[in-house]
Amino acid sequence: MEVIILPTQQKAAHLVAQIFAKEMKAHPKLVLGLATGRTMEPVYSLLVDLHRQAGLDFSQCSTFNLDEYIGIPADHPCSYRHYMNELLFNQVNITKANTHLPDGMATDLAAECIRYEGAIAQAGGIDLQLVGIGSDGHIGFNEPSSSLRSRTREKALTPATLEQNAPMFGGDPANVPRRAITMGVGTILDSRRCLMLVTGKSKASILAKAVEGPITAMVTATALQLHPRCQVIVDEEAASELKEIDYHRWVFANEPEWAEFQYLR
Ligand code: GLP
Repeated sequence: MEVIILPTQQKAAHLVAQIFAKEMKAHPKLVLGLATGRTMEPVYSLLVDLHRQAGLDFSQCSTFNLDEYIGIPADHPCSYRHYMNELLFNQVNITKANTHLPDGMATDLAAECIRYEGAIAQAGGIDLQLVGIGSDGHIGFNEPSSSLRSRTREKALTPATLEQNAPMFGGDPANVPRRAITMGVGTILDSRRCLMLVTGKSKASILAKAVEGPITAMVTATALQLHPRCQVIVDEEAASELKEIDYHRWVFANEPEWAEFQYLR
């Protein structure tokens, strides 16, 4: 795992978008794993800009999102399908049929989870997975105590998550769906490359636990320490509680992979 610290939220999002663009140019049929949440909004906005201004081509890509709420339809303004359509899919030249989210309205949810895992496998697995982190340390909706080998399944959301996501549902946690379908921790760990983007002061404490704490199912983001190629991209505010901050800075300044991105320091 590498931790890359950049001065601002915008620069952190910029690095993520640039890595996406580089991978997509090198591998036009890239299979992307995508995440939702406020943290990702600037990333999608930058990818739309890259498409419009620099011709970034999504036509052969396919995408799999981490998760979806159970019980709200795709056209509901708070569904993750709606979020993805609005912020990315409707604004770039992706083939909609190649964009996948779990179906939270499926009549047989267990079958839907198996189908989703099968679709990822059929696409050849996820090449580049983007994840954020919840205030309780979740990735996707893998809430505390989730198996670190879990696959796509239904999960009940914790009160902390209902609280965190309430602003998108009019501010009342009671309006947030209680359950979701999420890729499992094991599904995320199977991705070939993983980028975790974390920004803002409110995430500083959970980020320090996630990257410098012991691996525990109580903070499922710690499982990314086991990922063969995970890079954690953060802004100064989110980095403020890291103990090894000087070491993380040294890695970004010295690893050849990051030489072309030194302009972001
Ligand atoms: C939701 C999503 C997560 C996301 C988290 C953080 O819970 N299921 O994938 O990482 O929100 O959201 P935000 O970026 O709004 O803090």
